Amino acid sequence: MTPTEQSTRALAVCRLAPVVPVLVIDDLAHAVPLAQALVAGCLPALEVTLRTPCALDAIRAMSQVPGGVVGAGTLLTPADVKAAKAAGATFGVSPGATQRLLDACAEHDLPLLPGAVTASEVMALLEMGYTVQKFFPAEQAGGAAFLKSIGAPIPQVGFCPTGGISLKNATDYLSLKNVLCVGGSWVAPKDDMARGDWAAITTLAAEAAGLRG
Ligand code: 3PG
Repeated sequence: MTPTEQSTRALAVCRLAPVVPVLVIDDLAHAVPLAQALVAGCLPALEVTLRTPCALDAIRAMSQVPGGVVGAGTLLTPADVKAAKAAGATFGVSPGATQRLLDACAEHDLPLLPGAVTASEVMALLEMGYTVQKFFPAEQAGGAAFLKSIGAPIPQVGFCPTGGISLKNATDYLSLKNVLCVGGSWVAPKDDMARGDWAAITTLAAEAAGLRG
């Protein structure tokens, strides 16, 4: 899959809702009810980070939830890409971009949201055909003001900023012309997951789904 085709598919994912939940799943038993709760709150695109031992099994289980579009986050290596694809991930997200990672996504037909921060990083990916990118770590790298400034000379790239975003500041990003959606973990708090309070997560998701730029 070419970078341009990947970006077309990534764009479709980013347009599903204003927020993509970034999920860290410690307990496989949480995977399905969590996905159901988020989908019920109208957040269908779900990023499961490959940071816990059960992440791939969680992707496998969540992929069966009707209405969910499940992707894998924290892709760092070609092996991650292969495993994510085999588990059923339909998109990938990386904090950055390396040539080996980009090649693996092309080879395994996995649409990727590659991460970039600086103008040069954004331009290097754009040169290859990646017009949809992740801006990470958003708040720490300069926040919405930084991303707005990147958009002035490079308006062709649409972003999913993540890192430090919550209900409080999401609109700062969503109101920018070059932001397609935002990513964040705030819609799936660890405490609510541990308590099995899926209704609370649906409420947070619905609140996030109602955000507008
Ligand atoms: C991440 O990959 O950790 C995401 O950027 C989520 O960041 P957050 O926990 O600050 O929302």
